[in-house]
Order: sequence, then C-alpha cells, then structure tokens
Amino acid sequence: MDKKQVAIVGAGVSGLLACKYCLSKGFKPIVFDTEPDIGGVWAKTIKTTRLQTPKALYQFSDFPWPTSVTDDFPTHQQILDYIRAYATRFDLIPHIRFLSRVKGISYDGPSSDTWSLWNGTGEPFTECKWNVTVENTQTATTQVYTVDFVILCLGRFKDVPNIPEFPVGKGPEDFKGQVIHSMEYAAMDDNAAAEFVKGKKVVVVGFGKTGLDIARECSSINGLEQPTSIVYRRDHWKLPDWAPWGIPLPLLYLNRFSHLLVHKPSEGFLLSVLATVLSPLRWGVSKFVESHIKRKVPLAKFNMVPQHSLSKDARSCMISYMPNPNDFFDEVEKGSIKLKKSQTFSFYDTGILMEDDNTTIEAEVVIFATGFKGVKKLEDIFESSTFGQSIASSPRVPLYRECIHPRIPQLAIIGFSESFSNLYISEMRSKWLVALLEGAFELPSINEMQKDIMKWDEYMKQSAGEYHCRSAIGEIWYNDQLCKDMGMDPMRKNGLLANLFEPYGPMDYTRK
Ligand SMILES: Cc1cc2nc3c(=O)[nH]c(=O)nc-3n(C[C@H](O)[C@H](O)[C@H](O)COP(=O)(O)OP(=O)(O)OC[C@H]3O[C@@H](n4cnc5c(N)ncnc54)[C@H](O)[C@@H]3O)c2cc1C
Ligand SMILES: NC(=O)c1ccc[n+]([C@@H]2O[C@H](COP(=O)([O-])OP(=O)(O)OC[C@H]3O[C@@H](n4cnc5c(N)ncnc54)[C@H](OP(=O)(O)O)[C@@H]3O)[C@@H](O)[C@H]2O)c1
Repeated sequence: MDKKQVAIVGAGVSGLLACKYCLSKGFKPIVFDTEPDIGGVWAKTIKTTRLQTPKALYQFSDFPWPTSVTDDFPTHQQILDYIRAYATRFDLIPHIRFLSRVKGISYDGPSSDTWSLWNGTGEPFTECKWNVTVENTQTATTQVYTVDFVILCLGRFKDVPNIPEFPVGKGPEDFKGQVIHSMEYAAMDDNAAAEFVKGKKVVVVGFGKTGLDIARECSSINGLEQPTSIVYRRDHWKLPDWAPWGIPLPLLYLNRFSHLLVHKPSEGFLLSVLATVLSPLRWGVSKFVESHIKRKVPLAKFNMVPQHSLSKDARSCMISYMPNPNDFFDEVEKGSIKLKKSQTFSFYDTGILMEDDNTTIEAEVVIFATGFKGVKKLEDIFESSTFGQSIASSPRVPLYRECIHPRIPQLAIIGFSESFSNLYISEMRSKWLVALLEGAFELPSINEMQKDIMKWDEYMKQSAGEYHCRSAIGEIWYNDQLCKDMGMDPMRKNGLLANLFEPYGPMDYTRK
C-alpha cells in the first residue's frame, strides 16, 4: 500500500508530535511553518519566561528531560533546547519546510450536510485530497501540495493578537505614545525590548501570565522612577508554588480520586451520584488551596481576592503561576508597579482613562497583554467559507475528542484546547489521531459526535463559565476516552490505590 501523505501545519510542539507519530505508523508527513525554526511559542518569547507547568508534566513521554536541567520550571531557552533535541532524536527536521506559510487549504471533493458518517464513509482516507497552498516567505513564491490528510497545529497563543475594540475617538488613534501587543514585545530581541520601555511610562493592559511577566520586566528596568501600571478587569488566582500547605498540587487535582469529585460528561449514574455526594470535599479542596494562596500572596491587602473559586480558574486554565509573589507585591507597595482595576478604559492624547471611576494614567507606551485570537487563525486557513464558518459557528470550536470537526473531512486539529500541560495533551491527541488514521478504531456517526461535543460544551460552561471557549480539559478522564478508543487500558498504574491516588502524567502513557 502506498504511504498516505499528511500535511501538518505548524512546527510547534503539537506539529512535531503529530509528525513523530505519523512517521511511527508509516505515514508520509510534511510539516510547514512560517518561521525559520521549530518550537512555536518557545522559539522566541520574553526574556524572563519559564515553564509555569512543572517539567515532569510538560515532557515527551518517550523522551524525558535531560538530567542537566534541574529546575522544575526550566527557562524558555532550556525548553527550546529540549524541543530541538526531541526533533533531532526522532529525525523530524528533514520533514519540515521552514519559512513556509500555509496561505490556504481547499478540499478537492464533496462534503455534505446530509452525511451521517465523517467523510461520508467513516474512513479517514477517501479518494479525495486537500490542496495546501504554501508561500515561501523568502522568495514570495507559492506552491500547491496535494495531500490525503491535513493536521492543523497552528497554536492558540501566537500570531493573531486580541486587541480590545474602542468606540470612535476613544481608541489609540489620537494617543501620542506607542501602542503594541505583547506579541510584538516578545518578538523583540531582549536588549531591544529593554530599550523600548526604558525610562518610559508603561501601561500593561491585561493581568494574565503575559501581563504579569511583562510588568515585572518593565518594573525591574524602570523602578520607581517610571512606575509601570497594570490595568486589568478581573481578578484571578495567582499560584505562588505547586505545593499548597506542602501537598503537591497534582495530588489534589491530577489523580483519579480528585476526578471522582467532578461531574463529568458521559459518566454513568453512579459516578454522577458519587460526584454530587463528594461535592463538599471538592469545595473543601478548593478552599484549602485558596487559603494557602491567600497566606502566601497578599491578595486581600490589594483587594484582589477573586469572587469565584480556585477550581473555576483551574478548570479554565486562568491561573497564573506567580513565583516570588512578595517581590512583586513589594514593588506594588513601593509604587514601582501600580495596579488598576477597571472594566473599561479609553485612550486620550497622553494616557488612558479608566471609565469606571474617571481616573487617568499618563502613558508613553501601552502594551496590550490581552491574549490571542486563535480561532481566527483556524477559521481563515480554510479557502471554503463553509468550513471556516463551521469552525467559528459556535462560541467554542466544536471538536470531537478536541481533535475532529465532524463536518470537515480528512482533517484534524491538535493543540487548540487547553490543559495544565499542553505538551502532554498534544501528545495524547497525536497518538489517538494516528491510531484513527491507521484504522485501529472508527469514529461514531456525525450525530453521535455532535451530541458528545454538546455534552462537553455543557460541562465546560458549568466548570469554566465565561472562559468555556478556551476548551480547558481535565486530563485523566479525557485521556481515558482516548485510551478506550485506542483499545488501551485507561488504568495506567499498578493496583487500585495507585490508580486512585497517584497523580497521572505523561510518563504513565508510554507503554501499550
Ligand atoms: C509565553 C508562553 C508560555 C507558555 N507556557 C506554557 C506552560 O508553561 N505550560 C503549558 O502547558 N503551556 C504553556 N503555553 C501554551 C503553549 O502555547 C503550549 O504549551 C504549546 O507550546 C503550544 O504548542 P503548539 O504547537 O500547539 O502551538 P505553537 O507553539 O503556537 O506553534 C504553532 C506553530 O504553527 C505555525 N503556524 C501558524 N499558522 C501557520 C500557517 N498558516 N502556516 C505555517 N505555519 C503556521 C506557527 O508559526 C507556530 O510555529 C505557553 C504559551 C505562551 C505564549
Ligand atoms: N509559562 C509562562 O510563564 C507563560 C507566560 C505567558 C503566557 N503563558 C500562557 O500563554 C497563554 C496566553 O497568556 P496571555 O496572558 O497572553 O493571555 P490570556 O491568558 O488570554 O490573558 C489575557 C488577559 O487579557 C485580558 N483581556 C482580554 N481581553 C481584554 C479586553 N478587551 N479588555 C481588557 N482586558 C482584556 C484578560 O482579562 P480577563 O481575565 O478579564 O478575561 C486577561 O487578563 C496562557 O495559557 C498562559 O498561561 C505562560
């Protein structure tokens, strides 16, 4: 049988994993990336960025971190070196076309709203093909590649910035200073970034992990002389360490017992009763960790205690790791970092106006650390507006097993929904996808896939509220489904107690 050609768009960790697993099953992958290097977000980020997930959870299951990396939270350079070593170990580089931007993909075949099975047949491959139009960013030439299957690994936190919209006359048009997105700051050479903010009044908008890191960098450069302001709209829990009251967080959130406390999609009656009975314990765990955070991070002093539970932030991946919180809040006390909460704000010629209380902050530089529009990237890559719209038709991108759009044929998406450890989850999806491609299992009907997606939607709305579009998932029970599909035993440890209480991580899924 001739090898099926698979186009993979993106050479970040998701694309590399997809490539490695395609090769392992005898497919012919070709990976395209706009950039000149692998690594995606890790190829260039801001100077002080480190992993915020402990490295034990953020590692390739068959390629552990080298012993030379001793810190639990490696630097971005160490992460990039690790990713490069992985690509070398599995000989992935020859399959990658760098400086190759995929301008569009078009399906050369039928697709239909009346199909009851994915691709019309339920088979991953048919006679039909995808045409992938690739622009060489150096020569500006384009080439069309015809392939049997497409895997989109475009990444969610890169390339397309989320910039707040302003009414006419209230946006940055008349502002005399400079306005950039965190993405542009991250793209600068470290010295250029420092020079860019040095001696300037900087306002950082957004208090996610990027906003926090950029504000820390600016304040370490400018100190009290030119205070850095953070303007933000919602409070979120900031995690000072991964061991609340000395207990490793994975013991509280990443073992099967902790997952018994949560009412999950598709679980049976008994498990759902158990989750209800145990819900006070779930509340207790959340309060236990919250009490640790409040002890270590002076949220109350600065009126920053979130109204919602830690569990909600955990289930929507809205918790930022904030090591050394005292250093940060010392700067706040000294006045070199100023925190300003406001639901809305607008620009005027020399600063920004908080519309909640009509106060102003003078600014020379405004940095939007307001996140990314990953969905736009997905939507725009399809030449067919029908496929594009089906991606963006609902608030949350509707993917079966967070990989397959039931009505987009011969295509999968990896790396879009979030988790505590995005590498680990992209690896599980890559394994699942190649098992599907090699025919190890079949997808259910389109109708059943859509019902399943709706159940997950309901679950995510309940657990993550307004952040459900981030599609954050709890690893174990999601992995259980992937394992069952692949015919693997989901119980990965030896013995009931180990399965119930030991934390699960990437290394649990190495053996068959
Ligand atoms: C600063 C930062 C720190 C992070 N820290 C953590 C962390 O500690 N723990 C964690 O779990 N997650 C973290 N994340 C999330 C992170 O996005 C994932 O961990 C993971 O690296 C994503 O990999 P990816 O391959 O899915 O996407 P990306 O790394 O975004 O890679 C996507 C690739 O696709 C390419 N691409 C996109 N569109 C096209 C196109 N049209 N044509 C060709 N190529 C294209 C891009 O150039 C890019 O190289 C962090 C994210 C950021 C931004
Ligand atoms: N390893 C690391 O150290 C590290 C570093 C950076 C980023 N990351 C990861 O990278 C991903 C992206 O992080 P991010 O911080 O860039 O983006 P993010 O998590 O999406 O956070 C965006 C922030 O911008 C705010 N925001 C969005 N739209 C806004 C608007 N219209 N007006 C005002 N504020 C607005 C949000 O406010 P609300 O909270 O009110 O929604 C939030 O505070 C996350 O997964 C993050 O964990 C990791």
